[in-house]
Amino acid sequence: MTLEEYYELIKPYTDAMNLILTRLEILDHDTYETEDFKPIHSITNRIKEKESIENKLKRKGAQESVQDAKALLKDIAGIRVVCYFEQDIRHLVSSLKKQSDLIIIREKDYITTPKPNGYRSFHMILGVPIYYMDSMEYYPVEIQFRTISMDLWAAMEHRICYKNQPFNEMEMRSAFRQYSEILEGMEKSFEVYSENNEE
Ligand code: GTP
Ligand code: MG
Repeated sequence: MTLEEYYELIKPYTDAMNLILTRLEILDHDTYETEDFKPIHSITNRIKEKESIENKLKRKGAQESVQDAKALLKDIAGIRVVCYFEQDIRHLVSSLKKQSDLIIIREKDYITTPKPNGYRSFHMILGVPIYYMDSMEYYPVEIQFRTISMDLWAAMEHRICYKNQPFNEMEMRSAFRQYSEILEGMEKSFEVYSENNEE
């Protein structure tokens, strides 16, 4: 794919992502009665780079073309929403699901069922309608919802395990599984303190 083709490809994905970012901001103001408590701690977003798109297509054994990118990749537009507590995530997800112009392409609840390595997060791929002069097309946006403690774990795991194979792999794997549970426990106790404070 040429650079021109790449820029043309990502345009509607960028529009779809910006649309969802605005809706998340609205929900952040609106989820709880008081402005003192907001469900979202921070949001990051990115459009997949040309090289990552091409590498992923290569891994899938597909052509490095605009057509295959559109057909096969659902994470060209990606948003990561970091919340305080699991309940914040549940509220946001259920509010988004009520927005009737959006379609749900895929959902993975790694919070209820963590991955074997300990990874926890709620993943959702939304189809966002983009309207043109006289047509409409849905574009996928991947949203990863995490709490601060899930994000801490994922960032560390990514940094330590993702690219380089750690030399004491077995030990490390079991430590990460344990840390995932410890962080979950820590978050649950913060939640109890937070609920007590609100009364
Ligand atoms: P991809 O081809 O990578 O998109 O996999 P998938 O389509 O099976 O998606 P999945 O929802 O399982 O994961 C997608 C994204 O979630 C990844 O690109 C990471 O950002 C994140 N993720 C998933 N598993 C892990 C994990 O074990 N550790 C970390 N740090 N991040 C993960
Ligand atoms: Mg993905």
